[in-house]
Amino acid sequence: MKSVVIPRYGGPEVLEVRNVPDPQPRPGEVMVRVEAGGVNFADLLTAKGEYPGTPPPPLVAGREFCGHREDNGQRVMGYTQSQAFAERVAVRPEFIWPTPEKWTVEECVAFPVTFFTAYLAYWKAGLIDSHVGQPPSAVPRVLIHAVAGGVGTAAAQIGHLLGIETFGTSSSDEKLERVKPLGLTHGINYTRDDYVDKVRELTGDEGVDAVFEMLGGEHVKKSVQCLAWLGRVITYGAASGERAAFDPRMLYERQTSVHGLWLSKLSLHPEIMQPAWQRLSQWIADDRLHPQVGHVLPMEKSGDAYRLLSDRRNYGKVVLRIA
Ligand SMILES: NC(=O)c1ccc[n+]([C@@H]2O[C@H](COP(=O)([O-])OP(=O)(O)OC[C@H]3O[C@@H](n4cnc5c(N)ncnc54)[C@H](OP(=O)(O)O)[C@@H]3O)[C@@H](O)[C@H]2O)c1
Repeated sequence: MKSVVIPRYGGPEVLEVRNVPDPQPRPGEVMVRVEAGGVNFADLLTAKGEYPGTPPPPLVAGREFCGHREDNGQRVMGYTQSQAFAERVAVRPEFIWPTPEKWTVEECVAFPVTFFTAYLAYWKAGLIDSHVGQPPSAVPRVLIHAVAGGVGTAAAQIGHLLGIETFGTSSSDEKLERVKPLGLTHGINYTRDDYVDKVRELTGDEGVDAVFEMLGGEHVKKSVQCLAWLGRVITYGAASGERAAFDPRMLYERQTSVHGLWLSKLSLHPEIMQPAWQRLSQWIADDRLHPQVGHVLPMEKSGDAYRLLSDRRNYGKVVLRIA
């Protein structure tokens, strides 16, 4: 079968389309004939050998897919640790979900990693329905980094549905304009404004209740500086490529905290994933979630697809056509 292979560790230039043997499903796994794959920032890290837990090269790239189950023909969208950018993938049934009829294959493939991660970030922040029945002054505030990206555009939509005041950062006014109709309350272009100053200004110096932080380096410290009393930073990535550097003593003054989120581990817990899916699928049924697909490329252009993310040129999800 045709697949996108990481033959050795490196940047987008190492990716190759190759014929490889079909996967052999393990007991309990189902085979999916893949139509499209969703590119995640984690795929860039995997190619560079910087994503924990993935096997060494050569390996088939990709973790998010949409296609048809071979046993019953059902169209599904799903998530796996690797091997998704191939004509066939063997997956555990708990990591696939039925696709909404109305959605295109591209929209479906833009759902699993992004929307579960974004929903679980609100859950870890304690903000799922936290202010229902409370006075308007209790509306929570959340700062979402890279709000125009895959996870970011999902977080903007979920925040809107939860009635949260959202603040989102991006390098581009144009990208921020595209996120506004999804429900983003305030856009912050970090190439022009320091986001800590801007958050303090926009909140009358109160700060936000949570920051969704995926940049690493100095941004964990800066994100803590954005927090209100009892606020939480939810950290789930390091797109800057730098380790987080901050002194935990800075948490004492406003009783703030920093929480880690890794979908790869949370997704092993049905007691967490099922309620998340229940809520997300209800919003889907009500036509209130719209996965954002910014770019669709053939699998032969996977290097260009990866570059869109590493060069910050993507809006929403970058999709690879496999079949
Ligand atoms: N822990 C988990 O379970 C989990 C799950 C999913 C994703 N993630 C993490 O969440 C983050 C977003 O993932 P995604 O797949 O949705 O990617 P993405 O947000 O669609 O793409 C990355 C975006 O990050 C922004 N960015 C800021 N600084 C950057 C830098 N130094 N290099 C590259 N991009 C930079 C860029 O947007 P602007 O130009 O607008 O700033 C870029 O478009 C990644 O860090 C990823 O590893 C973690």
